[in-house]
This record gives sequence, structure tokens and C-alpha cells, in this order.
Amino acid sequence: MFRFGVDYYPEHWPETRWPEDARLMAAAGINVVRLAEFAWSKMEPSDGVFDFAWLDRAIDLLAAHGIAVILGTPTASPPPWLMGAHPDAYRVGPDGRRWTYGNRREYCPTHAAYRAHSRRITEAMAQHYATNPAVIGWQTDNEFGDRCYCPTCVDNFQGWLRGHYEDLTELNERWGTVFWSHIYNGWEEIPPPLATGGSPNPGLALAFYRFASDSYVTFQQEQIDILRAQCPNHFITHNFMGFGYDRINYFDLARNLDFVSWDNYQRMQWTMSTGVIDPAAGALAADTMRGLKQKNFWIMEQQAGSGGWEMVSVAPRPGEIRLWAYQSIAHGADAIVFFRWRTMRYGTEQYWHGILDHHGIPGRRYDEVRRMGDEITRAGNDIFGSTVRAKVAIVLSYDARFAFQIQPNNPQFDYPRHIGQIYRALHAQNIPVDIVAPTDDLSGYALVIAPSVYVLPDDVAANLVEYVRDGGLLVVTQRSGVKDDDNTVVNMKLPGLLAEVCGIEVAEYDSLAPDMSNAVEFVLPGMTRETMAAVGTWCDVLELAGAEAVALYTQDYYAGTPAITRNHFGAGQAIYIGTVGGDPFYATLTQWLLELAALEPLMETPAPVEVTERWQGDRRLLFVLNHSDSEQSVNPGGAFVDLLTNETIDDTVTLAPRGVLVLAAA
Ligand code: GAL
Repeated sequence: MFRFGVDYYPEHWPETRWPEDARLMAAAGINVVRLAEFAWSKMEPSDGVFDFAWLDRAIDLLAAHGIAVILGTPTASPPPWLMGAHPDAYRVGPDGRRWTYGNRREYCPTHAAYRAHSRRITEAMAQHYATNPAVIGWQTDNEFGDRCYCPTCVDNFQGWLRGHYEDLTELNERWGTVFWSHIYNGWEEIPPPLATGGSPNPGLALAFYRFASDSYVTFQQEQIDILRAQCPNHFITHNFMGFGYDRINYFDLARNLDFVSWDNYQRMQWTMSTGVIDPAAGALAADTMRGLKQKNFWIMEQQAGSGGWEMVSVAPRPGEIRLWAYQSIAHGADAIVFFRWRTMRYGTEQYWHGILDHHGIPGRRYDEVRRMGDEITRAGNDIFGSTVRAKVAIVLSYDARFAFQIQPNNPQFDYPRHIGQIYRALHAQNIPVDIVAPTDDLSGYALVIAPSVYVLPDDVAANLVEYVRDGGLLVVTQRSGVKDDDNTVVNMKLPGLLAEVCGIEVAEYDSLAPDMSNAVEFVLPGMTRETMAAVGTWCDVLELAGAEAVALYTQDYYAGTPAITRNHFGAGQAIYIGTVGGDPFYATLTQWLLELAALEPLMETPAPVEVTERWQGDRRLLFVLNHSDSEQSVNPGGAFVDLLTNETIDDTVTLAPRGVLVLAAA
């Protein structure tokens, strides 16, 4: 069943208001709510004293209106009594300073007493709600994140290292601790990469970032184990933070969950320098979240009003809330839960606007959600469970992401932005894309792009090489194959383990200052020789070792040498891109790559119109999304019915500003 819901905080409002809330929700088509993820001090007002009576009453009332419930374990926001008793449970930042009380997410994920409290509240909630028929699932904590550098974590890091290295001799060798006399004689000597220690050993820093990521994975696992044992019929999920969050290996965090949920905010109070929304950013976030398990996801928090803590974001324009929600669905959402039901009068998030304003009287945003509720009531069953089938994959490596945090290589280079640029070029052409883990099975893809696989463990290299050998079309970009699994530079010519498959060697490289640039000229037969595109940031100087040149640099001491190459290897081809371009560069490149891969856009549309598809068995659903505030015309090229209105479309159709169509063959 397609779930359409809200994040609801009954504890923020007088109980006398609850019936009106439930009535308004049901009238808007709401069939699920998430509750309690920040209600620890209401559920356990003092150490070991539990009170679920208020929550029971809220759940009963919602259930009477046909609304199901997801419960959040409340561990993102510990009560003052807990933190007061354990001052060493506060997280320590990279500057070595301990957090204090006042916000949320201030806890250390490895602290033994904190973990014991987390298990106890999870156990108490699970026991209490295991048989409540209104409860259908659980959200662990809330948006796990942030590295902790406290002494407990340092102890645990040293223990983690013992499990990952044979002995200290091996560790010293693999990290090259001989440099600057860092040779460790005891595990307890190994420090965390605190800012006070200066620029760290890259091997140590990557190990610590992996450990910090694992510490949340294991913290979550304790809650999962309890919930699985107590509530075998309930699902377990967590609300992830999209593509942008970069401190946890999200593939690992997702592994033992039933499905991924994530929080989709497109107008934030921090991004006020422009009122423009990039639709590709929302699409990339959604495709990444689908990619964590290669499975449909839930939106656990879909923006429903202006965001705001100290500042207030641009208000969602009329139609935007609905458009963003349909964009999420277009990329694989099987549920939309809006954050939040009603804007809170108190607290840090006083200005984080919900569907209802502070006064609680329905207005424009409520009407927009109710309209969508009607549409979902009509079309939800057609959409639910249908899947995205992409022929293009982009490889996302959290190892590379962490390693670039340690050494960006060039101040203008940003790994996620690099992925985003390539993704945006495909998105602009209405090409469905999967985001995949470096060791995922690639055999089903016509085109695989592996941007800057900077850290390249043997198994990842083998996976990419095998894909090409078996007939795949692989694209690798600059700074790939530079480091081994320990963040140590490989002892071979770059791109290291990918040199042979790419048929090139990096003779040298040039890291460009912001006022330096180059340009490339495409020279492959069949490409327009005149096509020039500006590049910068980084230029690999390449020697051909079997590959052919696709584009040449036009300037500087390496003018006339290859910037982009193509190599036939086994039954497939590998393309190497040795430099970083702007949008026109990736537009030209992806058009050529799509031709090579024999892939066609889903539909030719004006620039602001996005098209995606989901498949319900053999039935294709086309999502047509107008991201502009003006009317746009498209011709889907066939006879379709719009599932949202039941209208037939067999010719050019005009989309309203921020309009949406969900088309199925008539
Ligand atoms: C999310 C978080 C919510 C709320 C929202 C708005 O990141 O999960 O609890 O804080 O942002 O700030």
C-alpha cells in the first residue's frame, strides 16, 4: 500500500487538539504518521521510569481515523537526566572540544552507558508496542551522523584497528609510519586525527573515518537486534540524509535495514544565496538513496514549508511541495511522509514550517497536500512497488569520499560535486541512472561511470575490469586508482590497477590554480573536431599504451597530448577522462557516451521538464515533472492516460507551472 503521511508530535500540543489534527489528517488522505523520535524525556521521564500512556492515547486516536504508525527510537535526543549522569557521553569534535547540552545529536555512539540506555528504551518501546495493531514499523534514531573523537572512541578505534590489522608491524608498514617518526610500538599510542595534531597520516585518517562510520552502524545494529527479536512483523528503517551527507558509509548503514528512508529538503535556510532549485540535485539524492539497497525507499521527511532555525528559507512556491514529492516518487519512493504536520511554537525549530502554520488553521500548503492525497488515493496502487530500471550506473565510493576529505588534492575539486556534474548531464537528457556501490554487480548496465575512484581496493579494481572484459562500457575519471585500501599511493604508474584496462599511463599531472585553465578538442572520427570545451582544476598528462585519443589538450606544455582516451579491452571499452570540465564539457561527453552505449532519452523535453520511468511488471509509468514556474509543452509520443486525473493524452500536452503527469499506456 502506498503510504502518505506526516511527522507528528502530539506531545507538542494540548491533548484537546489531537482529535482535530486526526480529522484534518484523514481528510487530506494521510494514512501513516511517524511519532516519538524525539520524545525520550516524555517516554522515560526519569531513569528507568517509563510512561507510554500518552503515546498509547495518541496512537489509538490516529488508528481510529485509519492512520498507521511508525515509531522512532528516541536516541538522537537524550534527556538532561541521562547526559547529566554521564558527562563523558558527550561527543567530542575534531578540535578536541566536548559538546554540551542544548541541541541534539550530542552523544558519543560508542559510550557504553549511552548504549545501555539506548538498548533499554528500545527494548521498552519494542515490548510495549510489539502487538499494537496500529504500529507497522520502526525508524532507528534520527539522521545518524558526526564523528566523535572522545577518549572512549579512541579506545574503541584502537580495538577496531586490532581487528583490521594482523599486528603493529603490519599497520606501521601499511601506513608508512616511518615518515616523520610515527612508528607505533603499542596500540594505545595510536591517536585519532584531531585538528590539534595537524594534517594527519592519510592511512590513519581513513582508518579513523571508517571506524567512525562503523561506530554508528554497530550502534544501530543493537537497536535492530532488539526490534527484530521483539517485533518480527514490523519493518525497520532509518531516515538517511540524501546524497549530501558524507560522514557515514551509507551502504553499510543500510545493509541490515528493510528499506532506506530519507529526508528530502530542497529549500533550506542555509542556501539563501539563490532562490533557484537544481532539480538534478533532488534527483541525484533520490537515486543515491535507492542505490543503497537497489530498492525503493520511503521519504520520511518531505519538506512541507519554509525551513528555518535562526533564519527562514524561501517559502515553497505554490505547487513545489507536491512537485518535490512526485519527484521523489518518480525516482523510487513508495511512501511520502511530510515534515512536519504543524509548525512548533517553541524550540530551536520554531521556524521550521509544517503543513499547518503555528496557528493550526489549514491554508495553502494543506490544500496542496490534500490535493496530492486525493491523487495518491486514486493512483497509489498503480505506482506502489513499481521499479526504476536504469541502464546507466554511477559508482559512489565512500572510501574515495572520505579520502578526498583528508586530501582534496586541489582546492577547487570536490568529489560529490564531480559526481553531481556528471549526473546532471545525464539528468538533463532524461536518462535514468542508478547509483551503485563499487563492488555491486555491474553486468546489467550499458554504461558505468566511475568518477575519481581515488581509493581502489583490489576487489573494486577487479569488478571494474571484469565489467569491461565482459563487454561493458566503463568511464573512469582523473585521480582514479591513486591509492590502495590503506590510502597509500600505489607503487605503479597511474591509474594503477586500471592502467591496463584503460590502455594508458599517466606520465605526470598538473594541479591547476583557479586562474589557470586549459581546453580540449574532440578528435575522434565522427565527433566534430571543432568541439572545444574548457577544462581546469586538474590535468593528467597521458601516454597511450593501446588506447586511442578522444580529445587533446589545446594549451600549455602538454598541448596536443590526450586528455580523454578510449581503449578496447576484452569485449568492452574503457574511457579515461584525465581532466575536469564544466557543464558543456560533460554535456558533450555524455551525448557521445550515450551514442556509444546505444541509449536514448526517455523523452525529448524542454530543459525544465524532467522525465523518469518506473515499471510495474511490463507496464511502464512515465513521470513528467515541470520544474519551472511557466507552462511547458511536451509530446509523450503515443496514447497515454494520466493516472492522477484519468485524462487521456495522445498529442502535445501543456503542463501547468510545476505541473506533474503520471502516464501509463492508454
Ligand atoms: C531533519 C530532522 C528533523 C528536523 C528537520 C528540520 O534533518 O530529521 O528532525 O530537524 O531536519 O530541521
